[in-house]
Amino acid sequence: METEIRLRVDGQTHEVTVDTRTTVLDALRERLGITSPKKGCDHGQCGSCTVLLDGRRATTCFALAVSYDGAEITTAEGLGEGDELHPVQQAFVDHDALQCGYCTPGQVCSAVGVLREAAQGWPSVVTEVGAEGDISPEALDHDEIAERMSGNLCRCGAYVNIVPAVAAAAEAAGAGR
Ligand code: FES
Ligand code: FES
Repeated sequence: METEIRLRVDGQTHEVTVDTRTTVLDALRERLGITSPKKGCDHGQCGSCTVLLDGRRATTCFALAVSYDGAEITTAEGLGEGDELHPVQQAFVDHDALQCGYCTPGQVCSAVGVLREAAQGWPSVVTEVGAEGDISPEALDHDEIAERMSGNLCRCGAYVNIVPAVAAAAEAAGAGR
């Protein structure tokens, strides 16, 4: 069965007819030609398909497109303003944290989501009990960033510069308040 849905992606509205079994990832890649979100595992395990879905990071290989009719989606391509990189993208460049084209777009979207979650005071599983009120992007330490980014995998083990990049973006986000 097919149905028409509307997705707003990186500031552009798209009306698209999809099979009701189509995932958001396939709608983006196969129907709309938006290829920065990648299909790594197609099982919700690697994070390479991560985008910001209605402002929150989400893996799109498990999200049915019909459930997100009317959603606002930001991919790694839509994070910056024109030629200007998003502060998280800039931090990845500055810290040489860019990995391959497969996992990097998801890593970057996830990092943006991490900073938003921290700004909203969301704890992670490594957050000290009772510290909820103290959570903010600039307060995220190595363990917090590593835990919060742990849904984004790379098979090459090339993670070494990701935490410093996210920490720098977190610090910049704090300074910008
Ligand atoms: S492709 Fe979605 S989590 Fe791996
Ligand atoms: S999967 Fe991208 S660098 Fe390893």
